[in-house]
Amino acid sequence: MANIVKKTLLWVSGGAMLAGLAWGLQVGGLAQAQNEADQGKSVRCANRLSIAFLGNAAAGDLAASQDPQSQVDKLLEDPVFIERFARYINSQMNDAPGATSVEDSAYHLSKYVVQNKKAWKDLFSGPYDVVATGTGAAATVSVTDKADGLGYFRSKAWLERYAGNELTGLKLTSAYRIPHNIVGLRLVATTNAPGADVSATGRAAAACKGCHFDGWYALDKTAQILSKVQRQGQTITFLPPDGQAKQVLGDQMLKDDKELVTALVSSDQFLVNSCRLAFGYLYGRNENACEAEVFDACVDALKSSGQMQAALGAIAKDQSFCQ
Ligand code: HEC
Repeated sequence: MANIVKKTLLWVSGGAMLAGLAWGLQVGGLAQAQNEADQGKSVRCANRLSIAFLGNAAAGDLAASQDPQSQVDKLLEDPVFIERFARYINSQMNDAPGATSVEDSAYHLSKYVVQNKKAWKDLFSGPYDVVATGTGAAATVSVTDKADGLGYFRSKAWLERYAGNELTGLKLTSAYRIPHNIVGLRLVATTNAPGADVSATGRAAAACKGCHFDGWYALDKTAQILSKVQRQGQTITFLPPDGQAKQVLGDQMLKDDKELVTALVSSDQFLVNSCRLAFGYLYGRNENACEAEVFDACVDALKSSGQMQAALGAIAKDQSFCQ
């Protein structure tokens, strides 16, 4: 009896051992398949990040990484990324490339801001100037410190590029371009109506005032606090505004370009627009409704660190980026 029990036990444990062995083999196979799947996933993720940041397939450490999203901070310091990002920003701040390099002041200053890890708002309100040394194709462009600089908005080449042609020297073009660049204002000018009266009186007509006098962005009101342009032959000069505070951006009382830019970069809309730029760079499109969570994470990151790198990082490190 005792023998039988023992045999049964042996048999049981033998069976269990076999079963265990089979189970072990199966687990081994599954683990291998899982490994391969993970590897495929990390390769896809590495390529996705590399293409988004650098414009080409992953190489080196990134390609070999088990956790490619841990490499995002390194990508953010890659000179290839910084160059591409500055070009992208320039394309978003201007409708066309400048006639000369210095006219692409958004390119030069955004590159400087990212390279030197400055706050993103410095692109618009930082104490800088974008200047050309030499002329024509041989000119070299650099970013210099300037105590009363206002991002690139007071750089000579930008001032002249966006001075416009309004009859009395009102800079309607700058009045549009400044909020366009900082908070993403989008208006489509309709000045080509044949025979339209383009003077201030004409711009107050029903077809025009929606953009020129109404709304928080009323271009004619914003232009009142900017300098005025005077042209004599090829010479362009700018006359300072009168220093009186006027009602701009809806209900704010502001007196010059600096107060205008300061109000805009302090708004929530600046954070939203900056994250929209970050999203556009990484995804090549605007965010959609189901991406609200990562978009909010971007806004929070930008708000607390001030840097565009934090905004891009919040998007690219989110698990949704590699799904
Ligand atoms: C949908 C908005 C919108 C409407 C409506 C509109 N404009 Fe404009 N207007 C703009 C914008 C934006 C600019 C700045 C254009 C730019 O940046 O090139 C502008 C600029 C101008 C300028 C200055 C151009 C320059 O080179 O400096 C004049 C003059 C003007 N508009 C007249 C008119 C007249 C007249 C009407 C009505 C027939 C009109 N606009 C209707 C948006 C509008």
